[in-house]
Amino acid sequence: MDDLRSWVTPGIWLGRGRIVHEETRSTNDDARALASGDAPSGTMVLADRQTAGRGRSGRAWISPPGDNLSFSVIYRPTVPQHLLAPLPLVVGLAVAEALDTLEGLPRTTVKWPNDIRIEGKKVGGVLVEASLRGDSVAWVVIGVGLNVRGLRPPEGLEEIATTLRLGRGRDVSRPAVLDAIVARLEPALDAFGEFGFAPSRDALRARCDTLGKVVEVSGVRGVAEDIGVDGALVLRNADGGVERVYSGEVTG
Ligand code: BTN
Repeated sequence: MDDLRSWVTPGIWLGRGRIVHEETRSTNDDARALASGDAPSGTMVLADRQTAGRGRSGRAWISPPGDNLSFSVIYRPTVPQHLLAPLPLVVGLAVAEALDTLEGLPRTTVKWPNDIRIEGKKVGGVLVEASLRGDSVAWVVIGVGLNVRGLRPPEGLEEIATTLRLGRGRDVSRPAVLDAIVARLEPALDAFGEFGFAPSRDALRARCDTLGKVVEVSGVRGVAEDIGVDGALVLRNADGGVERVYSGEVTG
């Protein structure tokens, strides 16, 4: 817990204002409440332990104390609502790229839309939630959860999940991971605010281990061929037709 409290190297705007909880229900819930007020863009909520952490698709996100990095950032982009969809992809890519700057870790990949993986196993995920007003975006909360220091994967997920420590073969400091993420995520969000998904798209395609595989998403089955300019996963079905999916769990 002390390691999180002593983290003192925010970016220019990202993490400049921050709240650190020993325990909370969900940092996304805390950040949403702050965002509904006048908390500025970049405000970060960190927690050593979440008692009701949330993942995508209504799943629970388990954060054992001392082990995980669980944080949420308030982001107030000026992009219109209809261009917001690829933001979770941009965040997943930035986190994966940040982890690659830590010495001794195998290269990370991204499973569409935004699971961060090491050697095919999930090490972290991103949960983006937004409040919209017509076509404008009032606020976005970007939640990131990473299994950092655990000596074993979360219980029951041994086959599909891992931790940074297991990937590296030795301990990893949470402030060092946070430094790396802020250094990569802040410019990625600046670029997204100005140019949208375009600056991240090629790097994401190169890192996305979903591409080239036969998968099923939201009832659509096919070869994952591409990630579109709008962030959609582009699938080639058995009839040779092209289908685009915008959300859902990839299986296969
Ligand atoms: C997923 O892979 O399903 C997304 C997981 C996101 C978990 C993070 S932990 C910090 C923030 N607070 C939450 O309740 N969820 C996100």
